Amino acid sequence: MQLAMIQDKLIPMEELDPVYLDRGIFFGDGVYEVVRSYDGKVFALQEHLERFANSLAAIRITNVDIGRIRAQVEKAFATAAIADAKIYFHITRGSGPRDHAFSADLQPNFFLTVTELPDDTEDKTKGVALSTHPDLRWKRCDIKSLNLLPNVLARQDAADKGCAEAILVNESGFITEGSHSAFFAVFGHPPDKEKGVWGPLKQALQTAPLNANVLPSITRKYVIKAGEEIGLDIVEESLTPQQVRHADELFIAVTTRDIVPVVKFDDAVIGDGTPGAQTKLLARRFHEFTK
Ligand code: PDD
Repeated sequence: MQLAMIQDKLIPMEELDPVYLDRGIFFGDGVYEVVRSYDGKVFALQEHLERFANSLAAIRITNVDIGRIRAQVEKAFATAAIADAKIYFHITRGSGPRDHAFSADLQPNFFLTVTELPDDTEDKTKGVALSTHPDLRWKRCDIKSLNLLPNVLARQDAADKGCAEAILVNESGFITEGSHSAFFAVFGHPPDKEKGVWGPLKQALQTAPLNANVLPSITRKYVIKAGEEIGLDIVEESLTPQQVRHADELFIAVTTRDIVPVVKFDDAVIGDGTPGAQTKLLARRFHEFTK
């Protein structure tokens, strides 16, 4: 008799709910997205759907209608009637007997949640601490895959140290991104003649370039746009933890939290230990995009 056991209950294989045979559980064989709304309006849905389509194509899930996904997201969001919502959805390759190889006729499984997303005002006002962690992920981090174990372990390591995010450092000693966020530094404080402080006329906003080592963050795209609009030089070059310790400002950027200022990086205090002026300006500009 072929059977399964769920907790302590034995179930004949033919009676097992296919949800237990989801390839997402066996292999993390699927991709996901996180979208949010501000004040009743979903932000950047088109960009998230395009990235979702790219992730699906990259893992060879071909039989998904993105127009239908958009309709499902919109229907769920309208039904939930939550003004500031987090919308999570994923598609796995489907359910079937555990076999690494997959057949093209599997039916993808779709799952979505709409939940409340309160603003983390305290973190934004005070700034957060980050800790570095080796980047133990695979070589296609541009795919928003359900395989998140290295991200989970890094994030927990940061939490154990009282930090809000783990900043991942690759084998070459360069920062890629956060466990679940993009990472930015601001360099070059402006000159202040009255105080006799030297500095360049233009400050630079720096983040890692987009390649297979990082997720093409949607928030990153809008932060860069905001940076250009407030007159910052945009530098898409990888940073080392050593460089970052001497940054004037740091922040993380992610759909669920938009821009969160960073005031501590491992044991280094950043700037004067409070959220930086450019970070605040960027956050203000960013919020205009969400309206
Ligand atoms: N995380 N980098 C990684 C590894 C991420 O997981 C995320 C998003 C980002 C930021 O991407 P975006 O700006 O498009 O949200 C960068 C999501 C929200 C999550 O896993 O919950």
